[in-house]
Amino acid sequence: MDSFWQKLPKPFFVLAPMADVTDAAYRRLIAESGAPDVTWTEFVSADGLYHTREVQKMLDAENPLMRDLQFTEGERPIVAQLFSSKPDMMAYAAEVVATLGFDGVDLNMGCPDRSIEKQGAGAALMKNPELAVALVQAAKEGVAKSGRAVPVSVKTRIGYNKETIDEWIPKILSAEPAALTVHLRTRKEMSLVPAHWDLMSRVVALRDVYAPGTRIIGNGDVRDLTDARQKVAESGADGAMIGRGVFGNPWVFAGRAYDDTSPAERLAALATLARYFEEITPPKSFQILKKHIKAFANGFPGAAELRATLMETESADELAAIVASYQLPSES
Ligand SMILES: Cc1cc2nc3c(=O)[nH]c(=O)nc-3n(C[C@H](O)[C@H](O)[C@H](O)COP(=O)(O)O)c2cc1C
Repeated sequence: MDSFWQKLPKPFFVLAPMADVTDAAYRRLIAESGAPDVTWTEFVSADGLYHTREVQKMLDAENPLMRDLQFTEGERPIVAQLFSSKPDMMAYAAEVVATLGFDGVDLNMGCPDRSIEKQGAGAALMKNPELAVALVQAAKEGVAKSGRAVPVSVKTRIGYNKETIDEWIPKILSAEPAALTVHLRTRKEMSLVPAHWDLMSRVVALRDVYAPGTRIIGNGDVRDLTDARQKVAESGADGAMIGRGVFGNPWVFAGRAYDDTSPAERLAALATLARYFEEITPPKSFQILKKHIKAFANGFPGAAELRATLMETESADELAAIVASYQLPSES
């Protein structure tokens, strides 16, 4: 049976997983502002899900893993991203997210975070391709146990210390993921150099040979849909993934560039986001919302002073009151 990946019109544009940024609150705001074709959750620890496997612990209102796995219908199709280096735990977690109603399961094979790599997960899997393939297989078996046909995809990079597209990409494609997102940098490059979109066509050519059914998504430095369309057209990818381009711009998938949004609508969106943020259960520290303040309250005279005031707030009501009484320079 065809998965939702097969039914997406091309090119398609998807929201990147970003820990503590694209949480349930921001995803909801983005869905309401012009939804992406596919939404990713932040990454979730498969081992964490495995270790809370008694049903009661799993459904405990205080379980932060369940908080990260909340979603609204407007976010569909929604893909849950998991990380692990242990096939049995990956299988279990894939079964759980399929049972929870997610439309897809994605395996993280690109995260450079030391705490993730120490577990042998994330980017470390590029150094252990056999295990990477086994994890995809395990996730597929886990999903099958749920009784639902949920496609398994992978998000990775172009190599570890150096670009190894010709070795790594065919290897991971041999596991036949439904989709493969390639962040066009090596692990070593972190996000410090421009993404190598010039290499994307090689990934696409390998897909054509090794796994024609796999959808290929390019990622890295895509600012907005205009930029995405151009990068996809030049590279032959099926779609593009946007991460940091959503900072302060939840309308990016509606085709708007940051500079086309007004300070007034950005501040109103920030107040809405603060409200959604408070509705997440169990609650996250209001502190985490503050990286959004920097992105939304930006780009007008007096923005720095307003940001400083907003940073002092501790609730959505307090933030909304300041935003409501603020006179933007152009309006005074
Ligand atoms: C704050 C932050 C958190 C991220 N968290 C994740 C994550 O949980 N899983 C993942 O696969 N990538 C994660 N990434 C990487 C992004 O998904 C994306 O690959 C990267 O930012 C490059 O795309 P961009 O230039 O469009 O931002 C994160 C990036 C940022 C900036």
